[in-house]
Amino acid sequence: MRVQVAIVGGGPSGLLLGQLLHKAGIDAIVLERKTREYVLTRIRAGVLERGLVELLEEAGAADRLHAESFTHNGVVFSSNNDHFDLSFDQYVNQAMTVYGQTELTRDLYDARERVGATTLFNVEDVVLNDLKTESPSIDCTVDGKSIHIDCDYIAGCDGFHGVCRQHIPNNKRKEYIKEYPFGWLGILSETPPVHNELIYSNSDRGFALCSMRNENLSRYYVQCDIKDGVDNWSDAAFWDELKHRIPEQFADTIETGPSIEKSIAPLRSFVCEPMQWGKLFLCGDAAHIVPPTGAKGLNTAASDVRYLYRALKQHYSHRDSTGLQHYSQTALARVWKVERFSWWMTSVLHRFPDQSDFDIKIQQAEIAFLQQNEAAQASLAINYVGLPY
Ligand code: APR
Ligand code: PHB
Repeated sequence: MRVQVAIVGGGPSGLLLGQLLHKAGIDAIVLERKTREYVLTRIRAGVLERGLVELLEEAGAADRLHAESFTHNGVVFSSNNDHFDLSFDQYVNQAMTVYGQTELTRDLYDARERVGATTLFNVEDVVLNDLKTESPSIDCTVDGKSIHIDCDYIAGCDGFHGVCRQHIPNNKRKEYIKEYPFGWLGILSETPPVHNELIYSNSDRGFALCSMRNENLSRYYVQCDIKDGVDNWSDAAFWDELKHRIPEQFADTIETGPSIEKSIAPLRSFVCEPMQWGKLFLCGDAAHIVPPTGAKGLNTAASDVRYLYRALKQHYSHRDSTGLQHYSQTALARVWKVERFSWWMTSVLHRFPDQSDFDIKIQQAEIAFLQQNEAAQASLAINYVGLPY
């Protein structure tokens, strides 16, 4: 089999890239380890930057998003019951779109099937060959059958636990990692959101976040111990703890209900340099991870995809490989700024086990400064709605 671009990974990164390349007349195949059904069971954040929405429009996969999503023009910050609204409109002419990543992934799969593009599922034993030559290839198996794919380029969109990043030689790859000493316990409940904007809350008992998917599907999180287990948390215990961590005004009005999904996620910051090796280009979680506090995981995958898509289009349309040559440098310049923002949000809003009283006072001063200073609010708004590509 031969394609122009072989994409490893059928998550948001791989699917968005595949759809954009198809629209540009570039032949690409997507190789996914799991099944479509399995991929669509994943529950992830759903706060989209305008850049991602525009890419989905370009990919022909934004109709349902426009029909069902919410626009958010600000967020609420809270520190021990003192809360304030931070409006984006006052500082940036940009809003955020709330639309579940699961639905976005479903829309991309539907769009891919509509155009008849090839996706192979249950793909195993992926090996990338000859990355530093003009004729790279992939060997893999599907349901035990060996498959060889010749291609011009390989997009590594296979997430943090994928294999593509490992094909960059260890002595040529530098990985930066920061593990946070806590996790996020999250639930989905078929209840109306407690507020029309997201609530980020720093409390003496730990961080909490109130979010949503639609007018009758809410998403809540509480910071938990890194060694905690979902079985330790009944729904009642979750709701009780959440109410203790958010402002009384919202604790008194929140509508609780049975969880339809409950899980604990670890928090880490991670960056792999470089993000390319010969004809291999990494996108999304394959190259970097952010703690979810800034809602930047999917949005930073999208900026990688845009850089790579534009570079490939420039190459195939104009035989100009400048974008490809500078992809890693271009993508990493934005990635590190997003890593900083996500680290800052996490550092300011969470309780750390080794935190001193001084550290807590500094956190409270950070939030107080944000509440009182327009320059601080402008900086947060610029980062939250999405840095320019
Ligand atoms: N071969 C083929 N597919 C693979 C392999 C492999 N060896 N390893 C992993 N995959 C698939 C996974 O099954 C998954 O569907 O690659 C896909 C990677 O998808 P994600 O992990 O969702 O990463 P990405 O597409 O970059 O999306 C980033 O998703 O996980 C969230 O927080 C993350 O919001 C961010 C977004
Ligand atoms: C979510 O809705 O799941 C969500 C929103 C904002 C975040 C993290 C998660 O920062």
